[in-house]
Amino acid sequence: MSGTMGDVILRAEGINKDFGGVLVLKDVSLDVRRGEILGIIGENGAGKSTLMKIMSGIYQPTSGKVLMEGKSVRIDTAIDARRLGISLVPQEFNLIRDLPVYNNVFLGSELRTRLGLLDKEAMKARTRELLAELNVTIDPEARIERMSAAEKQMVEICKSLAFEASVLIMDEPTTMLTTYEIDILFGLVRKLRERGMTIIYISHKLKEVKALCDRVAILRDGVLVHESPIADISVLEMAQRMVGRELGSIFPAKHEPGEDVVFEARGVTVPGLVEDISFTLRKGEILGLAGLVGAGRTEVAETILGLRKKSAGEFLKNGVVLALDEPADAVASGISYLSEDRQGAGIVTGFTVTENITLVSLANYCRSLLRLIDKGGERKKVQGYVDSFRIKTESLDKRLENLSGGNQQKVSLAKSIDTEPDILIVDEPTRGVDVSAKHEIYLFINDLAKKGISCLFISSELEEVIGMCNRVLVMRDGKIAATLEGRDINEEDIMFNATGAREEFAS
Ligand SMILES: Nc1ncnc2c1ncn2[C@@H]1O[C@H](COP(=O)(O)OP(=O)(O)O)[C@@H](O)[C@H]1O
Ligand SMILES: [Mg+2]
Repeated sequence: MSGTMGDVILRAEGINKDFGGVLVLKDVSLDVRRGEILGIIGENGAGKSTLMKIMSGIYQPTSGKVLMEGKSVRIDTAIDARRLGISLVPQEFNLIRDLPVYNNVFLGSELRTRLGLLDKEAMKARTRELLAELNVTIDPEARIERMSAAEKQMVEICKSLAFEASVLIMDEPTTMLTTYEIDILFGLVRKLRERGMTIIYISHKLKEVKALCDRVAILRDGVLVHESPIADISVLEMAQRMVGRELGSIFPAKHEPGEDVVFEARGVTVPGLVEDISFTLRKGEILGLAGLVGAGRTEVAETILGLRKKSAGEFLKNGVVLALDEPADAVASGISYLSEDRQGAGIVTGFTVTENITLVSLANYCRSLLRLIDKGGERKKVQGYVDSFRIKTESLDKRLENLSGGNQQKVSLAKSIDTEPDILIVDEPTRGVDVSAKHEIYLFINDLAKKGISCLFISSELEEVIGMCNRVLVMRDGKIAATLEGRDINEEDIMFNATGAREEFAS
């Protein structure tokens, strides 16, 4: 290790980047200090990945320069970057699926014997050592195709260690990881910093950046708008600088629901998952369902949809017991569900925007006798959603895989209300979407409530439960531990009831 912590190891100076006439980075200058974890945050499209690709030789800047250890360097290729000790763990992993781990680790800089032959044994042994240092149990001979996202990421990090990178850039590393895997990753990143590595950590998850990073830089529309020690800026301020507006207003004013009970659960039990759940949902109410992962929130929704069989209890709509044996029954009863797993059950990424929105509701567009689809009517309705929801897409015929996460989520929501439900169940409605898309989703759900649609709002994000809901059911171990209203809807009361342990949270 050379130098002292805090001197500048890598610097971007006056970087501009033009893509076909669009300036996506505007005069960006940024210092990266030796041995720090530098967070780079910004909304989707702010230019984070582009800046990092320039620093790692994948793109060339239109103008401006990169300095390593104070010297201006040309980084024409990823190999140049590697020689300089800069390594990027990209947002989309760069691994060859049908090669084993060790081949991937040494790809492009294979170890060879004195005769110039590939030294497989040396590569396997070195890979094994590196994986052990990372504390992960991955077989160097395992193939990439069978691995989880977390394992693939470890292989990418292992690659960076193999050529002794001094600067490690991680682009949105937690998008595909579970909470448990994120903890492991954070531990590892801190360990790498202790060893003197410099880490650039790209994210749009502000709390992660707050928890992990030493300093933070904020990009907005290609402009570097802020750079400071992490201690000098709160999560709220970060969000405000990121979107460039005051954010007290991210949640719309709560709307007072009606008195009528529209939907009711009475003593619903699903063995092993949900126990004796009862609650009421009023007209135009947003009812939160909070709790830790595994508390049974999603299972309640799945039971309403008929995806899980209850052994006792019943659901009622307007006082009448419903027969809900399969999802089609729920749709027919005016209940719509926005799944937590957008990719799995919500949308079809290979279908177009239009096809997705009208997937379940297509029958509404059939002219009665001939069963022909009223294409004009369908497009008009879909265009209405695209406009009112500000779904960013080049056309209605664009396939969903080409849209950003936030825009995909807006399509899912449009789809779930296109069946004209009076009860909407949303499960983690803003997972993986950026701050401004979140804001639009909140406005949208609140508008539905104003129109009298009732919403069961399932979320792990406390601030959105607090910001959006009229009442909150807190679940713990399959049961409702508390129903909170008014001032009792706060972080401490929710966590206390979700965990059953006040001390844990107070400390
Ligand atoms: N190869 C490319 N060609 C054209 N435009 C691009 C390319 N890569 C990124 N962009 C555009 O540059 C802007 C910044 O993108 P990106 O750096 O990926 O943002 P972020 O990583 O902050 O989400 C976006 O508007 C994006 O569409
Ligand atoms: Mg990116």
